[in-house]
Amino acid sequence: MVKNIRKTKPAERFLFHFPALQVIGGSVTVVQGGTAILPCHVIDTNDDLTQITWQRRTREKPHNDNFLTILPREGVQFVNGGDDRFKYIGNFNNKNGTLQLSNVALKDEGSYTCIFTLFPSGNQKTEILLIVIGPPFTNIKDNLPTLGKEEVLFATCTAAGSKPPAEVRWLTDALGDKVRTTTNSTQYDNDTTTTVSSLFGVPTSEINGHQVQCVISSDAMSKEETLPFSIQIYFPPTEVNIRAISENSFECVTEANPSANFTWNLPSLQSAVKVDRAKLQLLSLTSDLNGLYQCEASNAYGSKHGQIYVHVASGTCSAAWASFAVFLFLNVIGAAAWWFFKSGYFQRCVEQ
Ligand SMILES: *[C@@H]1O[C@H](CO)[C@@H](O)[C@H](O)[C@H]1NC(C)=O
Repeated sequence: MVKNIRKTKPAERFLFHFPALQVIGGSVTVVQGGTAILPCHVIDTNDDLTQITWQRRTREKPHNDNFLTILPREGVQFVNGGDDRFKYIGNFNNKNGTLQLSNVALKDEGSYTCIFTLFPSGNQKTEILLIVIGPPFTNIKDNLPTLGKEEVLFATCTAAGSKPPAEVRWLTDALGDKVRTTTNSTQYDNDTTTTVSSLFGVPTSEINGHQVQCVISSDAMSKEETLPFSIQIYFPPTEVNIRAISENSFECVTEANPSANFTWNLPSLQSAVKVDRAKLQLLSLTSDLNGLYQCEASNAYGSKHGQIYVHVASGTCSAAWASFAVFLFLNVIGAAAWWFFKSGYFQRCVEQ
């Protein structure tokens, strides 16, 4: 005697077997905000269909409630208030109760049951699981570290509101143990998870400008996301130097992050002087220009200045080197160092 052994294939999990009658449903995964099709139809029956009823069970309403009925003549009727995101896309005559749900929200996740009221066989039903996934909102926030010797937070990389949870990690290979990371996750009542990974290190000038990446992956994302980040250590302008760029023009130089803005303070209202950001140009060489020219370098973290003393004296060419001098002095804490400025400048004659 041979027994009829039936192997259940995975695809048959949602099929309810009755003699010659099947209600076909399924399980549906949709991205938040997208459109889900809740498939349901009955096949292999010649029974009369009198009504299709949809029930649902969600996190908010954990009991199976009727929420929609479909009748042959009246059509679709909502039981407890309408929701125009639902659209009946089946066909009553074909015993098809399929619904479309647009703009799916996380709270729509749950179990949807479709019930066919048939005569004479009675009620036949199937359950459809609606799974709603949500990709995370991602960002990197720079904690704006300033130069120092103690470990500080450089930046945080966040994957917010992910369902299922996202994985967040930093790629910092080139920096070895100069940095360390920590990761924390918070799961909310609505089943979303926010994951934050923090990057720490000692804010030295060597680490300034290094590139790292934050990599975010989640089953709710079609591919992982890589956010580049340049570690910036911020500091006010360091020592301000003034250098000659030609015979009659100077440039104010400093190091700062972010780059410094420069302002020149002139000894008097000068039309014979041209100022362009860090650059100062003396357009004529007359004693009107004499005086102290101060360059101020500043950014959000502080300011510092350097100055140059211009002295143009009338005289003959032979005496020019002595009578025409430009002194530079730099403000060093406590003492002003005077620099006698030697360059091709002195070979020029100023005849008045
Ligand atoms: C989930 O809950 C968190 C915390 O209350 C909230 O910030 C977030 O917007 C919620 N997400 C959705 C999709 O409702």
